[in-house]
Amino acid sequence: MARGPGLALQSQPLLSLLLLAAVASHAAAEANCTCPTNKMTICSRDGPGGRCQCRALGSGFEVNCSTLTSKCLLLKARMTAPKHGRSLVRPSEHALVDNDGLYDPDCDHEGRFKARQCNQTSVCWCVNSVGVRRTDKGDLSLRCDDLVRTHHILIELRHRPASRAFDHADLDAQLRRLFHERYQLPPRFVAAVHYEQPTIQIELQQNMSQKAPGDVDIADAAYYFERDAKGESLFPGRDGLDLN
Ligand SMILES: *[C@@H]1O[C@H](CO)[C@@H](O)[C@H](O)[C@H]1NC(C)=O
Ligand SMILES: *[C@@H]1O[C@H](CO)[C@@H](O)[C@H](O)[C@H]1NC(C)=O
Ligand SMILES: *[C@@H]1O[C@H](CO)[C@@H](O)[C@H](O)[C@H]1NC(C)=O
Ligand SMILES: *[C@@H]1O[C@H](CO)[C@@H](O)[C@H](O)[C@H]1NC(C)=O
Repeated sequence: MARGPGLALQSQPLLSLLLLAAVASHAAAEANCTCPTNKMTICSRDGPGGRCQCRALGSGFEVNCSTLTSKCLLLKARMTAPKHGRSLVRPSEHALVDNDGLYDPDCDHEGRFKARQCNQTSVCWCVNSVGVRRTDKGDLSLRCDDLVRTHHILIELRHRPASRAFDHADLDAQLRRLFHERYQLPPRFVAAVHYEQPTIQIELQQNMSQKAPGDVDIADAAYYFERDAKGESLFPGRDGLDLN
């Protein structure tokens, strides 16, 4: 069983995340031509017939603002975002714990990670569908087979020990609802929620045969959640969790 990134999060905003009944509106905001699911985009009415079209920063890839943007495109946008500029999210030191850190990834024509990633230099390695390195590093001759799909992602986070314990059943229901409403992930892909104060584990599971076309990928839902839990929401405006 492949294991996704274990996220060790200090999760102050968790409570506000769970209490956030109102959810990011996923209806494309045609009126104002913005992307409701990805603030790291540039939108304009350049589409056919003046249609609002949004392109990811960094790649120029046209994104579908009715659904989540892929993690690969989001990482790429993050790497190319200006270091200052408070409206853009900045890389934090709490990157994925079992990753080699942030890198500027190569994404394929669907916005997914290419199986082989190289480090601008001649250092290359193979990644899984979450973008995490899964082989030793090699040189440009390194061959990677098809992208290895991560069908099990374990998200681990902690709330402040001092705060009151959650009711497990309640927490389970709230997290499933959050993943469904905010990240459009059907509840059947939330395999389990474990809780032992103050640690919360969320298991996402989704293999290729279970994923219908148009279903959100667990890799992307987990990444949006991670950024939300760190107070670095990828959703624009007030739907973000900048409230703390
Ligand atoms: C569009 O912008 C106008 C004026 O800035 C604002 O009143 C309106 O609520 C916005 N609509 C949407 C859908 O964001
Ligand atoms: C890629 O290069 C950067 C900067 O040189 C480095 O910090 C990072 O660890 C490298 N990543 C890998 C996977 O080699
Ligand atoms: C996908 O998951 C289902 C349900 O857990 C399982 O029955 C099936 O064997 C899995 N398929 C693959 C290819 O792993
Ligand atoms: C955008 O995503 C939605 C939701 O997955 C899907 O129904 C729609 O067909 C997609 N639009 C395009 C142009 O791919």
